[in-house]
Amino acid sequence: MTTPRVLLLEAAGPESGALAATAVASGYQVYAATQSEAHTTYSANLRNLLAGCLLTDFSQPEQAFHDVVAYAHRIGADVVLTTNEYLTPLLAKVCAALGLPGNDPAHAAAARNKAAMSEAFARNGITAPRTLVVDDENELRRLFATEKITFPCVIKPAEGAGSAGVTVVHDPAGLAAAWRAAHTPRGMYGMPLDPRVIVQDYVEGTEYSVESLTQNGSTTHLCATRKAVTIGAHRVEVGHSLPAILPPHIERAVHQEVERAITAVGIRNSASHTEVMLTPDGGCTVIEIGARLGAGQIGFLIRHALGIDPWTALLDTALGHPADLTPTRYEYATVRFLTSPCTGRLASVAGLPPTGPGVPAVHLRTAIGDAVQDVWANRGRLGHFVVTGPDADTVDRRAELLLAQITIEVVPEPATPNGVGRPRPELRPNRAGAQEGT
Ligand SMILES: Nc1ncnc2c1ncn2[C@@H]1O[C@H](COP(=O)(O)OP(=O)(O)O)[C@@H](O)[C@H]1O
Ligand SMILES: [Mg+2]
Repeated sequence: MTTPRVLLLEAAGPESGALAATAVASGYQVYAATQSEAHTTYSANLRNLLAGCLLTDFSQPEQAFHDVVAYAHRIGADVVLTTNEYLTPLLAKVCAALGLPGNDPAHAAAARNKAAMSEAFARNGITAPRTLVVDDENELRRLFATEKITFPCVIKPAEGAGSAGVTVVHDPAGLAAAWRAAHTPRGMYGMPLDPRVIVQDYVEGTEYSVESLTQNGSTTHLCATRKAVTIGAHRVEVGHSLPAILPPHIERAVHQEVERAITAVGIRNSASHTEVMLTPDGGCTVIEIGARLGAGQIGFLIRHALGIDPWTALLDTALGHPADLTPTRYEYATVRFLTSPCTGRLASVAGLPPTGPGVPAVHLRTAIGDAVQDVWANRGRLGHFVVTGPDADTVDRRAELLLAQITIEVVPEPATPNGVGRPRPELRPNRAGAQEGT
């Protein structure tokens, strides 16, 4: 067989970088498709891994589809992959056009768009929150006036990610601000987004995600991940720990629900990340599903805790080879994200642990002097550290101790009209192309 050629739809971001590095280490040639402004953020390291790069415009989906398919033909791509949720519908279309293993393009939008997802869940009898899809603010008012909205509820954009624009609303007074937060366009690459807003019943419970890999329609669950999420109006994920051990009967019920969700959104050959709420009565409600590996370090935690290499597994899946998903160790890993105490400018960060045994990664991605935001979306996280060890108790205790030693000082600055703490023009607030989901 000739050297496999791998085309990544976006190579920026930690997961995509790991995928590129793994592919190169396996002797594959790696290419990327991206957009000019994202390409300028590629590090020298990443550029060195790439055999070539297509600059396209993801804000023009049809044109981007044709560009990517033509480029894939030109380089003779054997694999097309993405770790970026925004690009999963495009990936499904491209794989279908090239005859490569992928997901069902007819259903791929349902793993991205929460209105389509809610319909797919309802059609397939998946336990999910009652969901209303709202076109405009007048309709929201009408729904409230006719008592279709109950409190607490959750208001979110139809095509958001990374908790951006998601608000838990406890009373009618909070509806207008939540509408504005959900309706403010955000996304990536200027891609056209569904402007509708989702209103969901609030589900009380403990939040987990399930990390799975599906090959030819057959799913293996790698683990469940326990999430630490902020309380309050905006729910930002501040920690992930895995593998979460659930009682066997609960685990069976969760897997069953997740498998139905995977099938409902047309996942046939890819990783998936399904967020679920376990309710006090032992039930499992599916909050959302993405046709990609969990972000927020989850892939790295899987490798540390279970010895499974998710990047090789993704490449094998995309090549149509059986992936090796057998754990080679049974340990535990957690990531804790650093957040800003208020909106303003980052003045100092002290007490970060050094990397060493049991602390394989420490990363501060925000520079001193950068604009920072009160905890509002995953995008506002300042950095993270990872702790690994033999069991949950040891690891969680150590992570809490390390977190308590970190001091973050922020000089408060008022929010600006179009957001908060406008970034300095010469500094990039976020790396373009890096997805901020989980
Ligand atoms: N219906 C719901 N009930 C309870 N919490 C919810 C609900 N929907 C969302 N959340 C909370 O808000 C977070 C972000 O919402 P989510 O639907 O996952 O959006 P995103 O695609 O931005 O991640 C979830 O992780 C969860 O903590
Ligand atoms: Mg989510």
